[in-house]
Amino acid sequence: MDEKNELVNYFSTRRSVPGEFLLEPGPSREDLDKIISIGLRVPDHGKLNPWRLIVIEGDNRILAGEKLAQITLSNNPDFDDFSLKVERERFLPAPVTIGVLSSPKEHKKIPEFEQLMSAGAVALNLVHGANALGYGAHWVTRWFAYDQAAAKMLGAQEGEKFVAFIHIGTAAKRLEDKPKPDLEKIVTYWKP
Ligand SMILES: Cc1cc2nc3c(=O)[nH]c(=O)nc-3n(C[C@H](O)[C@H](O)[C@H](O)COP(=O)(O)O)c2cc1C
Repeated sequence: MDEKNELVNYFSTRRSVPGEFLLEPGPSREDLDKIISIGLRVPDHGKLNPWRLIVIEGDNRILAGEKLAQITLSNNPDFDDFSLKVERERFLPAPVTIGVLSSPKEHKKIPEFEQLMSAGAVALNLVHGANALGYGAHWVTRWFAYDQAAAKMLGAQEGEKFVAFIHIGTAAKRLEDKPKPDLEKIVTYWKP
């Protein structure tokens, strides 16, 4: 590891922090704006801005969780109380969660696939932005990214998909390092 280069160290050792270990204090509005600005600074073929963000914070975390529990019950009336509590607390304790929507635009040259990948880049950049400002972060999707009623309740409009919910907060735990990628298995140097 090149200890002289902070960026190299960061990218070589970055770990997510699971949502249950993301606590107060969360980012101030100023920090959040910086995190979001970093998040949106991604490659974007054709400058289509094919993404939107939904910020869930403060008491709205509880209201959103309550609505998730209601949708869960209407999908499955037999859900037990413990599982409903899990749904109510989906956006707790992390102080802030940013939902990342892929919001593709009609374009004759730029396929939707590229626009979707740009939204994925926003998601990871938000994680890096949060880390850069000293917070922990976790990229999750969970069932509510894919359930139409839940995604709509959380802000998805026609034609949009959630690609990420980025939980952000002060990290109460740092995960251990994980194995380095096995480049021999993953990387092929093309030869004719
Ligand atoms: C598209 C996508 C969706 C994910 N959804 C979840 C999820 O719902 N729950 C979860 O625990 N981890 C999810 N992850 C994995 C975490 O973001 C994270 O990568 C994982 O906890 C490993 O931690 P690391 O980032 O430190 O390697 C998802 C990752 C991606 C790329």
